[in-house]
Amino acid sequence: MQIFSDNIDPLRAQIAQWKNDRDIIGFAPTMGNLHDGHLSLVRNLKKNGATKIIVSIFVNPRQFGPTEDFNQYPRTLKNDLELLEKEGVDLVFCPDVNLMYPSHISSEITINNPKLMNDLCGVKRPGHFNGVLLVVNKLFNILRPDIAIFGQKDYQQFILIKNMVANLFMEVNLILSPIIRENNGLALSSRNSYLSYENKMLASKIYTSLLKIKDNLCKKNSDISQSIRREIDRLNSIGFEVEYLELRTLNNLEICNEYQPGKDKYILLIASKLGRTRLIDNLIL
Ligand code: PAJ
Repeated sequence: MQIFSDNIDPLRAQIAQWKNDRDIIGFAPTMGNLHDGHLSLVRNLKKNGATKIIVSIFVNPRQFGPTEDFNQYPRTLKNDLELLEKEGVDLVFCPDVNLMYPSHISSEITINNPKLMNDLCGVKRPGHFNGVLLVVNKLFNILRPDIAIFGQKDYQQFILIKNMVANLFMEVNLILSPIIRENNGLALSSRNSYLSYENKMLASKIYTSLLKIKDNLCKKNSDISQSIRREIDRLNSIGFEVEYLELRTLNNLEICNEYQPGKDKYILLIASKLGRTRLIDNLIL
């Protein structure tokens, strides 16, 4: 497994060689502290035909707000590299901040998609998605992947990246990868390590609520907004602070006020605080 961290010229030479050899380059961007959710991305790249796998590990400062957890974010590079080696990853890119944001470039580009960016998670995290799109764009330009994979766990992030790729005619195929969960239903996340044992158990109720709303949809005369309201109240009453719990179109996260049965048309999305930890999850309907 090759590891590149401080110089992009040899990295680009390796990628050029793979392109020359007609390898299909698969890429999974991450911020490290890898868990099974991240590793499933690697496995799904292979299933989707990638013949060379690249993983990046970079805790991107631009996507953290001034009061967010950038300093506290778990960094476990040695362990991450061991896991990736075992998965048969070909190349890891773990750049230094100065490489990604060189201080000699005095002005920075912003990629904007105001409507979608300031919605849902963007309401409480202004600037977050600008930072995500900026770094993903940089990574795509350095690594030139044929396929890039993103987790459904961060669905709004995926839709924003999909829109960026389409808008800017980027030559990369995007894949959405299913959410990997603990046995109790809690979606795996690096931020779960902030939770106490008790709160980790409690956090699984988020998924229970999503499933309950889905179950209710199958019942006759069920009112989607009522059952959403009920689950928000239930979660708030046991210690959560729900930021949003909403039904949106799967395609482009448009607001929907009513549900018409049909497969893969909608998505339920939730963000909630539990103590000081912010958790997100979703369920495709
Ligand atoms: P990070 O939170 O490390 O996640 C990296 C990738 O793993 C994302 O595509 C995310 O959706 C996916 N992922 C996380 N938890 C998952 C789970 N339980 N099941 C399946 N996939 C999961 O997302 C980011 O980093 C950053 O914003 C990044 C795209 C790397 C840009 O900095």
